[in-house]
Amino acid sequence: MEKILVLDFGGQYNQLIARRVREQHVYAEIKPCDKVSVEEIKTTGYKGVIFTGGPGSVYDADSPHYDSAILNAGIPVLGICYGIQLMAYMEDGEICGAAGSSEYGKTMVTVSENALFADVPAESVCWMSHTDYVKTPPKGFQVIAHTDKCPCAAMCDEKRRLYGVQFHPEVVHTDYGRQILSNFLFQVCGCTGDWRMEDFAAQTVETYRARLAGKKVLLALSGGVDSSVAAVLLHKAIGKNLTCVFVDHGLLRKDEGDFVEQTFRGKFGMNLIRVNAKERFLERLQGVTEPEQKRKIIGEEFIRVFEDEAKNLGNINVLAQGTIYPDIIESGKGDAAVIKSHHNVGGLPDVMSFEEIAEPLRELFKDEVREVGTQLGIPHALVWRQPFPGPGLAVRVIGEITDEKLALLRESDAIFREEIERTELAAETAANQYFAVLTDLRSVGVKGDARTYGYTVALRCVTTDDFMTATWTRLPYEVLERASNRITNEVMGVTRVVYDITSKPPATVEWE
Ligand code: XMP
Repeated sequence: MEKILVLDFGGQYNQLIARRVREQHVYAEIKPCDKVSVEEIKTTGYKGVIFTGGPGSVYDADSPHYDSAILNAGIPVLGICYGIQLMAYMEDGEICGAAGSSEYGKTMVTVSENALFADVPAESVCWMSHTDYVKTPPKGFQVIAHTDKCPCAAMCDEKRRLYGVQFHPEVVHTDYGRQILSNFLFQVCGCTGDWRMEDFAAQTVETYRARLAGKKVLLALSGGVDSSVAAVLLHKAIGKNLTCVFVDHGLLRKDEGDFVEQTFRGKFGMNLIRVNAKERFLERLQGVTEPEQKRKIIGEEFIRVFEDEAKNLGNINVLAQGTIYPDIIESGKGDAAVIKSHHNVGGLPDVMSFEEIAEPLRELFKDEVREVGTQLGIPHALVWRQPFPGPGLAVRVIGEITDEKLALLRESDAIFREEIERTELAAETAANQYFAVLTDLRSVGVKGDARTYGYTVALRCVTTDDFMTATWTRLPYEVLERASNRITNEVMGVTRVVYDITSKPPATVEWE
């Protein structure tokens, strides 16, 4: 299989590079620059290597470098941003930079005729984000692009198939970025583009079948898309040697626990242990109102329950996790120790010992995981499940958590989601996450001729790309009205419904 290696030097757009390559049907693997040797690169048979961007200057003592033998390994290399500077540095070119040489944002770039710039106009917009730049390219390299401030915006040594660009072709703001990457992949590296996402599933199953042969594997299944896809992949690879533990903390949405059980035990025939730990969790949460304390208690209790189950199972060699690439980025990337401390379920590897961690999705982005999930036949509702916080409804019941309040919230939430989902509204209004919150506020109402005194439910719906920022969704009044009518009529104990019109920031998506 054709593969491109994305050698990671720590830049902010690195995650995009691999994705842009895969979009062109060439498989891309990301590896931290200090974790892969030139020998390994050669024997793996990569069709090309991409040096990513990275913070800092190549002359800084703590900046990452790489074995310069890579440039003579006969494998095409494309250096991006820090990558072009590193390439120049490795071959004794000159790099310089001062405050006045910074370029940030959209910049006009002029390119000359070259395989890397085939079908790219002489002048176009690129995205720059740098201070340092290559002042003098190394011997054997020629300058093939420039901007007003950057005399060497791209360089190449065509004979050795070494290329570098100071701008970021992986960012959509570079008008011909896709074309440039495509030129590198197909014209320079000679890829054919025959890789498909289906191949990922088949190939991952094969890899893990060999790697985990004869081993007992444990996976904490949350019912979220990542752990679900990881579970199905590993189940295909090792069947009954995989045991999934699904901790039902009693803080799930309506019917969610049963759905997870039916899907994984029923449809896929997996070894699934559903731990009904509601009593345990509610007991520990009794009287607790402070949000952070709730989260902490749930995280800790989760580990205890999981530990108990692992002990009951005895002799487990491997812990499997649904870690995906953005998780690794968020947790500080690369280093194995850091990766272990990032997980979807709360600190497991720190307190338990396994010989190995298996993370079959660690190179994929969320939408790629969804694509794999769909191909594996995982139900739509799971593949497209909205984000759901680990502490579950505990952070959507404001104040103390009780069985009664959880029941009110579950019903109200199910109605609101149903009202949104029965139309095309979620897609039309870009409603990316929607749910109900049970506020701790009670107010007076009237039903029939009688005075009522019940809870206030808040509806929350946000539009967002990345959940880091979000705007409240302009839901049609009719939908809000229907949801409000149904909730106040069907859920005894709720007298009032309000809609949250706060964006993030200043508010967060969740109320706690
Ligand atoms: P906030 O409330 O921080 O939420 O604006 C941003 C996104 O993250 C989800 N969220 C969580 N997801 N564990 C998770 O896996 C958590 O503890 C957690 N808290 C919030 C939230 O639903 C939203 O999508």
